Amino acid sequence: MNNLSEIICREAAQRGVLSFARFMELALYCPKHGYYETKKDNPGRHGDFYTSVGIGTLFGQLLAFQFAEWLEQVRSAKCEVRIVEAGAHDGRLAKDILAWLQSNRPELLDQIEYWIIEPSGRRQEWQNETLREFAPRVRWFAGFQSLLQERTCHSSPATRHPPLRGVIFSNELLDAMPVHRFGWDAAKKTWFEWGVAVDGEKFVWARIPDPLAPRSGERAGARGTFENLPPELLVVLPDGYTIETCPAAESWWRAAAGILERGKLMTIDYGLTAGELFSPSRTRGTLRAYFRHHASDDLLANVGEQDLTAHINFSAIQAAGESVGLRTEMFSTQSQFLTRILEKASKDNSLAVWTPAQARQFQTLTHPEHLGRAFRVLVQSR
Ligand SMILES: C[S@@+](CC[C@H](N)C(=O)[O-])C[C@H]1O[C@@H](n2cnc3c(N)ncnc32)[C@H](O)[C@@H]1O
Repeated sequence: MNNLSEIICREAAQRGVLSFARFMELALYCPKHGYYETKKDNPGRHGDFYTSVGIGTLFGQLLAFQFAEWLEQVRSAKCEVRIVEAGAHDGRLAKDILAWLQSNRPELLDQIEYWIIEPSGRRQEWQNETLREFAPRVRWFAGFQSLLQERTCHSSPATRHPPLRGVIFSNELLDAMPVHRFGWDAAKKTWFEWGVAVDGEKFVWARIPDPLAPRSGERAGARGTFENLPPELLVVLPDGYTIETCPAAESWWRAAAGILERGKLMTIDYGLTAGELFSPSRTRGTLRAYFRHHASDDLLANVGEQDLTAHINFSAIQAAGESVGLRTEMFSTQSQFLTRILEKASKDNSLAVWTPAQARQFQTLTHPEHLGRAFRVLVQSR
């Protein structure tokens, strides 16, 4: 057993059974040993999976063009604007965005700061290294709470406006947040939560006993989205039908909305609507492990060495934003989103130099068989 497995084992021994969400949180984010604490080169060719960022600089350039347009809409003489990224990992996307702004919108860049929400000290160091040339423009925050201390144009102790005008965004952040995993017991017509227990040297699946269920508020909130499924759907669900919920992603989205005074909140992720997720034909859920570019269902193996990820429920995220006053502006495929940006950028010559490498990158980012259809974009605004 490696150090991380021993840490998880100790916690499982104390609690009996861990929720899968807690197992995933430790496997990915345990200080020092978690997957995302140690794997700087992942995503990437030498890691376990690719993201759009690794395809090349074009992704960041297209986002930068779009952000510039959005920032101009909320910029004013009295008010600074910001770009806020979360899940920046090694800072590559931030670098691509800032480099494009520097070359194409230098006067705008002079007036913005790029803020990174990064709870991990180690990842902050990686990002700092990558972004050295943009140092005066970049600031780090461990979370939204620390960012709420910031004062900008309108905020004063008396008025208590959320502190931010601008764009808050993430690419493949929400799909990396810990999920709860549930199964359907067709005989008892009830849902049960899958947890993780220890058997000798191995982690094994274990049903979380019902009496444990109310033990934590976390677990009560985890059920949310599927407690009210229509009875006609429940009749046809096969025994063992599996789904995941991600209350952490919904809370994160509401917290992000809470700091936005004016501007956009955007996520790019692979995911489905609730209607697509809760389909009787999708029986295994969407949780997968990624190890050296192979997807696997063996979620409890290679602890700390493989990525764990699940599709996000876009309907739940959209509802979370609307519940705190955001307006949904767009929900589209990555292909539609980037194609629209490219059309606008071509008109004003911002991405006029269209090299063969850029054309190949655009094809990979937008082709339905590559990243164009599975990845979707949700944009909400205030
Ligand atoms: C799948 S990677 C995506 C990295 C990068 N955005 C990309 O597209 O290549 C997910 C990243 O989100 C980070 N992350 C997870 N939870 C986070 C949180 N609450 N706040 C900020 N970053 C987080 C992880 O550490 C990891 O770096």
